[in-house]
Amino acid sequence: MATDLVQLDRDHVWHPFTQQQAWCEEEPLLIERAEGSYLIDVDGRRYIDGVSSLWCNVHGHRHEGIDAAVSDQLGKVAHSTMLGLSHPGAVELAARLVDVAPPGLSRVFYSESGSTAVEIALKMAFQFQQQRGGQHARRSSFVHLRESYHGDTIGSVSVGGIDLFHSAYRPLLFPTHAAEPGDAADLQRVLATYEEEIAAVIVEPLVQGAAGMLVHPDGYLRKVRELCDDFGVLLICDEVATGFGRTGTMFACEREGVAPDLLCLAKGLTGGYLPLAATLATERIYEGFLGAYEEWRTFFHGHTYTGNPLACAAALACLDAFEQERTIERLQPKIALLEELLAEVASMDEVAEVRQRGFMVGIDLGGHDPALRLGHRVVVEARRRGAVIRPLGDVVVLMPPLSIGAEELRELVTATKGSIEAVGDGARVQPVRDTLAA
Ligand SMILES: Cc1ncc(COP(=O)(O)O)c(C=O)c1O
Repeated sequence: MATDLVQLDRDHVWHPFTQQQAWCEEEPLLIERAEGSYLIDVDGRRYIDGVSSLWCNVHGHRHEGIDAAVSDQLGKVAHSTMLGLSHPGAVELAARLVDVAPPGLSRVFYSESGSTAVEIALKMAFQFQQQRGGQHARRSSFVHLRESYHGDTIGSVSVGGIDLFHSAYRPLLFPTHAAEPGDAADLQRVLATYEEEIAAVIVEPLVQGAAGMLVHPDGYLRKVRELCDDFGVLLICDEVATGFGRTGTMFACEREGVAPDLLCLAKGLTGGYLPLAATLATERIYEGFLGAYEEWRTFFHGHTYTGNPLACAAALACLDAFEQERTIERLQPKIALLEELLAEVASMDEVAEVRQRGFMVGIDLGGHDPALRLGHRVVVEARRRGAVIRPLGDVVVLMPPLSIGAEELRELVTATKGSIEAVGDGARVQPVRDTLAA
C-alpha cells in the first residue's frame, strides 16, 4: 500500500517549496496519524514532531479538547460564510483574540493563512492612508526588513527580503524600501528619506524565522514602534511565526510592551489543526473604513472559507487549552532546558552558531556549497533517528510543540545532535549570516 502511495505521490503531487526532481529521487515519508508530540507514518513508525508540523502545532496532536471542539462543530455546520452572515464561533473568537492581544487592537478580520493575514494588513494600511486623503494619500509604500519573510503571495513577497525565495518574482512586485534588521538607525534613515510616501513598516517581532531564526537585539522592537510614531506611519507586526507562545510569551510584542496598529496571526491560532488566520486592527484604522455605502470605503477583501466555523472552533479550544493547561507558565522551564541542551550542540565542531528565542531555534551549520544540501541531509538522517525536522538551507530548525515533555525534548535534541555529527564534516565554519543579537 505504501509503495503504491509513494508512486502516486511521485506521479501526481507537486509539493510546496520543493525541487520535485530531487523529491522523486528520495523515499518520501507518509504521515498517517499522530499523537501528542509524535507523528506516525504509514508503517507505524513514530517520529517526534521537531518543527510542530511547520511551526503551527501548539498543544500536541490529537489534543482531546481540540478534537472534541472540532467534532462537536462538525455536528452543527462545517462551513457557512462570513460574507453577509456571521456565526457564533467567529464572534466569540474575535472577542477572545481582542482580549489576549496587545492593547488597542479591537477589530478582527479573518482569513486562512499567514500570507493572507499579511496581504490584508498591507491592503488595510494602504487603503486607510488613501482614505485619509490629502497628503496622506501619497503614503502608498512600505518599509520592510532585509531577510524578512511574510508569506508567498505577491503582496507578502513584495515586503519579503529573502532573495532565494523572492528574487524570481521581482518584476511582479510593487516597490518597497528595505531597512537593516536590528538596526534602528537604519530604519530611521529610511523613514527620513521616504517619509511622506510610507504607509506602514512591517516587521517580524523579535525573531525573523524563515531567515534562519535571526534574533533582534533587545529594545529594537520598541525603537521601531517609536520611529513609526515619530514619522506618522503604521506598524504592522507579523506574529504568524512568533505568536501563540513561541518566544515564551503569548505574543512577541509583549516582551517589549509594544502594541502594533495591525497584527497578523495564523499558524498556532488553531493549535495547528486547521487553516485560519486573523488580522487585528485598531479602532482608528477600522473607523477609517466607515462611511455611507456609496462612498466605497468598504474593505473589498474576503475569501470563500474566511472564518470557517470548524477552524474557529479549533481556535477557541486552543485558547481554552492555553488557560486550562497554563501553557505559557509550564513552557518556561522547558525553554531553560532547551537552552541547556543546546549548549552542547553549540560547542560541536560542525555547528557555527545556535540562535534561540524561547521555543524558536536555528542551528546554523555555516556556509557550505548549496549543492551539498547539508541541512537537508541532517533532516534525512534525523528521520532514521526518529525525529522529523526541516531545515532552512543549512540552518537546522527546532520548533517543537509547546506541550512537549522534558524527556521528549531531550530525545529531539539528541537525535538532532547525532544527525549533525553523522552528516557533518567536523569543520567549524562561519555563520551564513551574522547574528543580529548583541
Ligand atoms: C513570519 C511569517 N509570516 C507569514 C508566513 C506565511 O504563512 P503561511 O505559510 O501560513 O502563508 C510565515 C510562514 O512561515 C511566517 O513565518
